[in-house]
Amino acid sequence: MPSLWTEGRGRAATSAAGAGDVRTADVVVVGAGLTGLTTALLLARAGKKVVVLEARHVGACATGNTTGKVSVLQGSKLARVAGKHGTDVLRAYVTGNAEGRDWLLRYCDEHGVSFQREDDHAYAQSSKGVGTARDIFDACRQAGLADAMWVDDADVPFPFRGGVRLPDQAQLDPMAVLTSLTADLDRHGGTLLQGMRVTSVSGTGPVDVHVRMAAAPDDDREAQLVISAQQCVLATGTPILDRGMFFARLEAQRSYCLAFDVPGQITRSMYIAVDSPTRSLRYAPSDSGDKLIVGGAGHSVGRSSRPSKDIGELADWARAHFPGAVQTHFWSAQDYHPAAELPFVGPILPKMENILVATGFDKWGMTNGVAAALALSARILGGRMDWAQAFASWSTHELTGVPTAVEANAKVGFHMARGWAKPLVPSGAPDDGDGAVRAVPWHLRAESVVDGARREVSPICPHLGGIVEWNEADQAWECPLHGSRFAPDGDLLEGPATRGLSA
Ligand SMILES: Cc1cc2nc3c(=O)[nH]c(=O)nc-3n(C[C@H](O)[C@H](O)[C@H](O)COP(=O)(O)OP(=O)(O)OC[C@H]3O[C@@H](n4cnc5c(N)ncnc54)[C@H](O)[C@@H]3O)c2cc1C
Ligand code: FES
Repeated sequence: MPSLWTEGRGRAATSAAGAGDVRTADVVVVGAGLTGLTTALLLARAGKKVVVLEARHVGACATGNTTGKVSVLQGSKLARVAGKHGTDVLRAYVTGNAEGRDWLLRYCDEHGVSFQREDDHAYAQSSKGVGTARDIFDACRQAGLADAMWVDDADVPFPFRGGVRLPDQAQLDPMAVLTSLTADLDRHGGTLLQGMRVTSVSGTGPVDVHVRMAAAPDDDREAQLVISAQQCVLATGTPILDRGMFFARLEAQRSYCLAFDVPGQITRSMYIAVDSPTRSLRYAPSDSGDKLIVGGAGHSVGRSSRPSKDIGELADWARAHFPGAVQTHFWSAQDYHPAAELPFVGPILPKMENILVATGFDKWGMTNGVAAALALSARILGGRMDWAQAFASWSTHELTGVPTAVEANAKVGFHMARGWAKPLVPSGAPDDGDGAVRAVPWHLRAESVVDGARREVSPICPHLGGIVEWNEADQAWECPLHGSRFAPDGDLLEGPATRGLSA
C-alpha cells in the first residue's frame, strides 16, 4: 500500500560491496526520514564526514507516509503544551517549530521543491469540541501567534462549529523533499547506505555502530559491519537503544490516510478536527489533478481489534461530504506521543553527548523533525538554539508527564499479561487477510494468511517480549507494548526492536 508520495519511487538497498569501505565517520546518523536527512545535510554542509544508515529505504516509515502539513497550529497540541508547561515553554516550542517550518520552506524554495502556502484550521465539528478549540485559540495568543484568528464559519462541506485559523502555513510532498535532501547530502560529501539496519551502538567516547544488512539472516557475519564515529544520532522514529528508556516515555500511535479523486473543487485550506473522531484534510496536486487527502482512525499500535471499521467510517465520511469521491490510495504510518507533550531531542542519557536522539513528534514532525535537526546539528557543531529547552531529552519538564507515563506503562503491563494469557483460548484457522496467535504459552505461534499464503512465526516481540497482535488493515503484526511492527513473514518493519520475529 504505497502512499501518494511513495508510489512509483525506487527503493535502492546498498550492496555489501557498496558499503565495503565505509568504516569511519565524524557522525553516523541512523534513519533516513526528514529528521535524519536534514541533520545529516546540516552537518555535511558544515564540513563533517557524515554517514546515514537506513534500515529500509529513504522515507520508509513516517515521513514517506505522512499527511505532509507544515504547520505551527498542530491541532490541539499547543493547548496541551500550554496546559502542562505554561507560557515560556509554549513559546519556546512554537519558536522551534516556526524555525523548523521556515527552514524547510526556504529549503524547498531554494531547491525547486514545490509546496502550497495554505491557511491551517483546528476546528470543532460538534458543540462538544468548541471548548478545546477555544483553548487552542488562547494558547495561540499566549504563544504570540498574532495572526491566529477565531472563525465561526468556514466554506466547507462538512460540519464546522468554529475553530482557529492560522494563515500562511504550508503543505507539501514529503518524498520530493527527501529526494532533494538525499541529492544535496551526496553533493556535500555525505554517504547514505540503505538496507542497513543498526543493531547496537557501543563505546563511551567515540562509538562503534554495529550494522547488519537488513536482508541478511541475523547470524550472517559477512553481512555485518562496524562503523566508528565520534557521535551517533538516532533519528529512528523511536530510539532503537533501550538506554534512556524512551520506549517507556512514548506511546506509539498508528493512523491512516486515504486519497480520493473528487469531481469539482476540493476545499483549499488545511483542516483538522479537534474533537473525536479525528478528521484531517488537505488537497494534494498530482499528475491527474488535485486529490483530496483525509486522515484519521488512529489507535495505539497493536491495541485496536478492528482498525478497518474506523477506516471504513473515515472513507464513508469523505464520500458523504465530497459526493462522487473515488478512493485511489490508502496508507498508514505511526508516530510517537510523549507523555509530557514535548519532543525529546538531545543526549540519550544525561551528559552522554556521543549518542543523541530525536523523537516524540506526536504526528507533527514536518516542523518538529526539522527543529530537531537544527537543534542537534547546532549542539554537535558547538552552537545553541535558545528554544531548545522545550525539546530537551532530559528535563524537569517531564515531571508533568509522570501521571500520564505511569498510566501508559500500566497499560503496557496489562497488554503484556493479556498477550501471554489470551492464546490459551484456541480458535480456528485464520481467514485470508487475517492473523491470530494461538497454542499454549510454552509454544505460542503467530499464524497469518495473506493472499492465500499461510505463514507461521513466533509471536514474541524481540524487543522486550510482548506478544504481537494482528492488524488486519495493514496485514502486519504489531506489538502492543512499544509499537514494533513486523511483516507476516516476521521481517521487522519499524519500532524499537532491532530483529524480526523468529521462525
Ligand atoms: C499518519 C500520520 C500523518 C502525519 N501527518 C503529519 C503532518 O501532516 N504534519 C506533520 O508535521 N507531521 C505529520 N506526521 C508526523 C511526521 O510524519 C513524523 O513526525 C516525521 O515524519 C518523523 O520523521 P523522522 O525522520 O523522525 O522519522 P521517520 O520518517 O519514521 O524515519 C525514521 C527512519 O529510521 C529508520 N530506522 C529505524 N530503525 C532503524 C535502524 N535500526 N537502523 C537504521 N535505520 C532505522 C526507518 O526505517 C525510517 O526510515 C504524521 C504522522 C503520521 C503517522
Ligand atoms: S516493542 Fe517493546 S516489547 Fe515489543
